[in-house]
Amino acid sequence: MERFEGKVAVITGAGSGFGRAFALKAASLGMKLVLADVDEHALAATIEQIDTPVIGKRTDVSDSVQVDALAQATFDTFGAAHLLFNNAGVGAGGFVWENSANDWQWVFGVNVMGVANGLRAFVPRMIEQGDPAHIVNTASVAGLLAAPAMGVYNASKHAVVALTETLYQDLRLAGASIGVSLLCPAFVPTGIADAERSRPSALANESPYTSSQKLAARQLTRAVESGKLSAQEVADITFDAVREGRFYVITHPNIMPSVQLRLDDIAQLRAPTDPMSLRRKDAS
Ligand SMILES: NC(=O)c1ccc[n+]([C@@H]2O[C@H](COP(=O)([O-])OP(=O)(O)OC[C@H]3O[C@@H](n4cnc5c(N)ncnc54)[C@H](O)[C@@H]3O)[C@@H](O)[C@H]2O)c1
Repeated sequence: MERFEGKVAVITGAGSGFGRAFALKAASLGMKLVLADVDEHALAATIEQIDTPVIGKRTDVSDSVQVDALAQATFDTFGAAHLLFNNAGVGAGGFVWENSANDWQWVFGVNVMGVANGLRAFVPRMIEQGDPAHIVNTASVAGLLAAPAMGVYNASKHAVVALTETLYQDLRLAGASIGVSLLCPAFVPTGIADAERSRPSALANESPYTSSQKLAARQLTRAVESGKLSAQEVADITFDAVREGRFYVITHPNIMPSVQLRLDDIAQLRAPTDPMSLRRKDAS
């Protein structure tokens, strides 16, 4: 997708972080916007900064009915969707056996079903509209590696990677003129370390954090705060990838040796190496 002006972008998780940065970037390129977030106030704060045609719709991406309504509102208002960002995401950390059923339901509901709902609601209409279009799914480095004490998040992001690679193949098989990009950032300062703020009360945990969960939360906060790349830079890199039709969007190329190590472990039937070990070696 080479031209953005006058085209329609749909962005989930648009109230904060990458979603807001995608929205501001898309507006700066003259796109019309459909912005969605479960947090109405955050969504309104993004919309205030937009000076191109825009609609905002409170949407919980884990709810298929709400995502269908988002697609309906998009086509009712603008008659098309050219650039779809399935971006909303949350996380829960700690030893994988200590995560509650609610943790699994919440994280998989948003991170995996959110993307699936976006594809199911939008792709048939995007194929039908016939215009060139593009889809960006936000996964993570956590979809390419499996670092300790992030099991639920890792599993959800590996699912997004598999889903998106399959989407690419399926669209080629169907002969659709829809490009696909898979965004896999490392740590970037956004609201992600405070994802609990958007957990619905129906999926709240009854037990307090375990020690491993407290440690994982502290480490995540530190890592996210110390991220060197900004959300705006991630948005710039992502739009370049969309323009160039690039599938893998690796914003932090220094993670690639760890990805290669994982692939080598698999190819050589070795037990998985801790993906953080190379980074610790770098730092020492
Ligand atoms: N920041 C990082 O270090 C990092 C790294 C890799 C991947 N990611 C991924 O980037 C994406 C965006 O996260 P971010 O870092 O901008 O975090 P963020 O917390 O700043 O933004 C996430 C937004 O998603 C919204 N959201 C949460 N649950 C939702 C739901 N059920 N329906 C709709 N919206 C919902 C939140 O209200 C928030 O506005 C996520 O998928 C995240 O997993 C982030």
